[in-house]
Amino acid sequence: MSRSDELDRHELGALLHAWLRWDSYLGGRGIPDLASTEPRRGRRTASAAETVAPQRDPALGVVASVAERGSFDPSITHAAASEAPAGAAPWLPGLDEVPQAERPAREPLPERPRGLPMAERLVRLQELAEQSARCERCRLAAGRTRPVFARGSPAARLVFVGEGPGYHEDQQGEPFVGPAGQLLDKMIAAMGLTRDEVYICNVVKCRPPKNRTPLPDEVASCSPWLVGQLEAIGPEWIVALGKSAALALGCAPPGSGPWRGRWGNWRGIPVMPTFHPAFLLRSPEHKKTVWGDLKEVMARMKQSQAPGTGSS
Ligand code: URA
Repeated sequence: MSRSDELDRHELGALLHAWLRWDSYLGGRGIPDLASTEPRRGRRTASAAETVAPQRDPALGVVASVAERGSFDPSITHAAASEAPAGAAPWLPGLDEVPQAERPAREPLPERPRGLPMAERLVRLQELAEQSARCERCRLAAGRTRPVFARGSPAARLVFVGEGPGYHEDQQGEPFVGPAGQLLDKMIAAMGLTRDEVYICNVVKCRPPKNRTPLPDEVASCSPWLVGQLEAIGPEWIVALGKSAALALGCAPPGSGPWRGRWGNWRGIPVMPTFHPAFLLRSPEHKKTVWGDLKEVMARMKQSQAPGTGSS
């Protein structure tokens, strides 16, 4: 363990405090029973991804890791929760030739190259969530029921960026909980992960009227929150869901022309732009294409975890 990974009691206390604030912001109920394998009660119903996987709360994993080891182990959120469902990727009905996603190996993991130290990261994310909840920088604020900041693990190595909240997200305050979100859960499960192991956010935090595409000035007004989230977490990979996200991350050319399926990068972090799940609901024939893009991401994840490989 490197010195920078070690936490003294003060840091440990700060980390637990920050985690609890973050957990409570997301609707959690405090430190879970470490011995319990029961899913949390009093929160949303289990997503499709969760129903195919045994439960283990990443929050529990992080807290347990800190308490047991005196350090934060970012690998735990990837090693904890689920087995990928057997057989074909379940969101691709009929495509039996699609191989089962291999779950990312637990060890060894590269040193986290980016992102804030965990206690600072949690505090920063909390600040950003609170600031964005008060934001009135653009016209979208007037029409929101509630802002939609993020969902998932602040320790995530993989971040999904969508476009903006729709009706269900605006009602519930959580990204990707409507039909597109259910498909996204299946895509994430097909990658051998759960939505609690990744981090999911949007380009804009308030619902655009009638779910229209956010306008450039709205994207610009909202960019401090997205930039802040990505800087705090420092993920190793980003998946941009849809052209709005790809554009916001500088990974699509403005105007028409091909944009998906080619690695771009945002401030040195590799970004895979792919079709949005809402588009796939309308045009399911493109699911196979998106699965190809996600397999590219999985290949990079696997590569970064191969023995002797320092990073992606
Ligand atoms: N579409 C998005 O882009 N984001 C959401 O959170 C929901 C639907």
